[in-house]
Formats: sequence, C-alpha cells, structure tokens
Amino acid sequence: MIDPYSYRIQTIGCQMNVYDSERMERLLQADGFTPAPANDEAGLIVINTCAIRAKAEQKLYSLLGRLAPLKKANPHLIVAVGGCVAQQEGGRLFSRAPQLDVVFGTHAVHRLPLLVDRARGTKGRIIDIETHPLQNDQGMTGPAPQPGGSPIVRFVTIMQGCDNYCTYCVVPYVRGREVSRTPGAIVAEIESAVAQGVRSVTLLGQNVNSYGGREGYLTFPELLETINALDGLEQIRFITSHPKDLSDDLIAAFGTPGKLAPHIHLPVQSGSDAILKRMNRRYTRKQYIKKVEALRTVCPEIAISSDFIVGFPGESDNDFEASLDLIETIGFSSLFAFPYSDRPNAPATTFEPKVAEKIKAVRLQKLLTVQKRATAQYHQQFVGKETEVLVEGQNRHPDRPGAMQWYGRNPQNLIVHIDADPGAADLTGKLKWVKIDRALHHCLKGTLETRPLQDICCCSRSRKAKNVPGGIY
Ligand code: 5AD
Ligand code: SF4
Repeated sequence: MIDPYSYRIQTIGCQMNVYDSERMERLLQADGFTPAPANDEAGLIVINTCAIRAKAEQKLYSLLGRLAPLKKANPHLIVAVGGCVAQQEGGRLFSRAPQLDVVFGTHAVHRLPLLVDRARGTKGRIIDIETHPLQNDQGMTGPAPQPGGSPIVRFVTIMQGCDNYCTYCVVPYVRGREVSRTPGAIVAEIESAVAQGVRSVTLLGQNVNSYGGREGYLTFPELLETINALDGLEQIRFITSHPKDLSDDLIAAFGTPGKLAPHIHLPVQSGSDAILKRMNRRYTRKQYIKKVEALRTVCPEIAISSDFIVGFPGESDNDFEASLDLIETIGFSSLFAFPYSDRPNAPATTFEPKVAEKIKAVRLQKLLTVQKRATAQYHQQFVGKETEVLVEGQNRHPDRPGAMQWYGRNPQNLIVHIDADPGAADLTGKLKWVKIDRALHHCLKGTLETRPLQDICCCSRSRKAKNVPGGIY
C-alpha cells in the first residue's frame, strides 16, 4: 500500500526552479508529507518545469509519458505539474496528459499542499495559474535545512520575474514582472542558513542588478554591503546580471575587499551588434567589452562566464563569426551555449529568416570547440599555483577504487577535487589552500597545502587587503 503522503519532486531547469522545489519540499513536509525513495512508491509526484527552451519543455512531456503506467497501477496517485510550462500552458496540459491532476503556476508554489488536498478531496482536476503580484516572501523562508542540498552552499532568491523583454525570451511571460523581496527577509533567511552551517550564499534573480528598483528598497550593491556584514558568512555570489544594468557601483563592489567572490556570470548572447539589437539586449559589443575591462581593472582575478545563443533568426555567417571573435577577445572562464528555439509569446518567434536546425547544430559545435580551448587555457593558469577552496563534501575518487576525494569550489567558481588523506578530519565547510596539480576540462585537481587555515574570508582580494599571501595572481 503506497502512502498517499509520500512525495517525489522532479526538477527541470534553472537554479530558480531548484530553489522553488526546495520551497515545495519544505511546505509539503510541514503538511505531513515524507520523501518517497522512488516514483513507484510515491503518493504524490510533482514536476517543476522549465520553459526557457523548447528542449526543456519536451522533457516534461517525456516525463509525463513515463508516469502514465504508474497512475494506471495506482489511481490514487496525484500528479502535479508546476513552474514555467504550467504557467505557459495552463489547462492545455490536461488535454495533453490525462494522468495529470494539478497544474500550478509560478505564483502558486506556496499553495501546493492545499491544491493537492483539493485534488484528493474533489477527485477532480485543479488549476491555479493566477498571476496576482507575488507578495513578499510567500513561503520563501523556513528554518529547515534544504533536503538534498549542500549544507555549505545555499541559493537565496532575492527577486523574481523580469522586465527586460529580450525578444527570444519567455521569462517575462511565465515569471511575470520583477518583484523584489524585502532586504529584511533576505537577511533573515541568510542568517538562519548561516546558523545551520551554510558558509556561501548565491543570490538568485533573473536580473539581480535591478533589485529593489521598483519597490525603492536598497540598491543591489547596497544589499551586497548589508549581506557582507553578516557574521559567519564567508562568501557571496550572485546570478544573473544583465550587462546593460551592470552599474559602476556594482563594478566597484568587486574591487572592495569583502566576501563577494571574484566571478560574474554575464550573459552576452551574441557578439554581433545587429543581432544584439534584434534581441533587444540594449547594449553593443563595444559596451560589453568596456564593462568587462572595468571589472578586470578593479578585480584582475575576476572570472567572467557567459551565455550565447546561436542561430537567432537572421544570424548570418558574419554575425556568428563575431560571436566566435568575442569569445577570443574576452577569454571567458566558461560558457553555456544554446541553439535558438521559438518560445510562445516571445516576439522573435515571428522573426525571419529562421536559421536551419542543421546550421544551428554546426555553429553550436564550432562555438563549443572554440570555448573548450579557451576554458582549457583558463584552467591551465591555475596549475602549479595555490588556490583557496571552500570544501563542500566528499565523493568517490574516479581513479582509485574505494578511495574518496574532497570537492569544493575556488573563488573563481571552478570545481576543485582534492586527494583525501584517509585519516584526515572532516573538511566539509572548511576553507583550504590547495596546490593545483592538474587542469581538466570541467575541474581542477590538487593536493591539500599544509599551511594553517586562516579563518578569514575566502576571497583572495580580502587576503591581499589584509596582507596575507595567496590568490593566484
Ligand atoms: N532559445 C535559445 N536559448 C535561449 N535562452 C533563453 N531563451 C532562449 C531561446 N528562446 C538562453 C539564453 C539565456 C539562457 C538562460 O537561456 O542564453 O541566457
Ligand atoms: Fe529573459 Fe532577457 Fe529577462 Fe534574461 S534579461 S530573463 S534573457 S528577458
């Protein structure tokens, strides 16, 4: 007999969705639900969906297909679909998936337990995709640790939605207008996380630079300053920034000694001005390069990562070459690249001429090959040097059967694997100096330095400020 109060949550998509899924877990657990070990042992299955690209949406339909036999075997099973595809498709999902009971949108996360109860009570289908303005902090804070998440690193949503309307993007339609959480609620969540042992927070928002703008709260740099002052927190990161909103104040924050890690994800999308214009990005290639130069001036060790779209409607060979050229010019530490896909409501869906799928695939491969070389070069510069690592945990050693290794990230957000001494104390949550021996495509490998741990911020800039040797430069 399957416990109707056992649940599984499957998450597709970005960190915002991971965060929302964690909120769902907290809410369900507060309502008496417990995690199920597998889908066929769950009384409730929730799929938290992503609509950003066509491929992510297709994932939902294949997952739903796999759930159909489970629903047949257990008619009491409740299947709920939330997130961006739920917001976008609404009731249409019911006709595509007869096994579906609940559709809940991006503004209804906090009502999930109630909606599940209703579906059980009425034995009918329930839909909740209203988009009334999000009230601050609805269900967003909670004292419980995030199940399954790292005990050391925590994502904290500071705002939702986006007002930018890039012409390819579905986010403003499925996540709504920008809404910022109050600084007090954000600080309270971080303080509670730190009390549970968290040492690094990543502030989340579709466009964090415009935090607080509508509401008249603190600006984003002011919020960073406030968080920087919190005792016990070692490191602050944030994603994602829009280059047009990267203010002088925020650039300056990277040059100020403190907890802000020297890494910024700054999606550029294209290296061609004509394409940037059609994307409604509201900056030029030159302006982007200038912002990167300004960042590197105040913080020479900063790592810059980015997103590119290939095959945007009208992208010519020359436009594409301009993207390749920008990759060489900037020297990104890493990047994500996506073939353009039409999204519902996004204006670019009507733009012509479309680029053939085959050409998109060739361009994607070319771009990834160029970046692979750039990433290898970027990683190589750490070899033979020391870098600080905030250790997140242990995993299996890939080359030595039965052996374990520690892993964590350095200030530039590179994953570092560290050979573990079998008798060593638990390093989880500790800041360690690591001598890098090898650079691989996705990570660095190194050995622990015996130099004593210094109990100060992990950012090499603050070490410099405090006259402590270190950093890689
Ligand atoms: N097609 C392809 N890529 C897209 N992205 C957003 N919308 C689309 C789309 N319609 C990419 C952008 C963005 C990242 C999160 O997803 O590069 O930065
Ligand atoms: Fe989408 Fe543009 Fe907003 Fe990013 S800034 S979420 S790409 S509309």
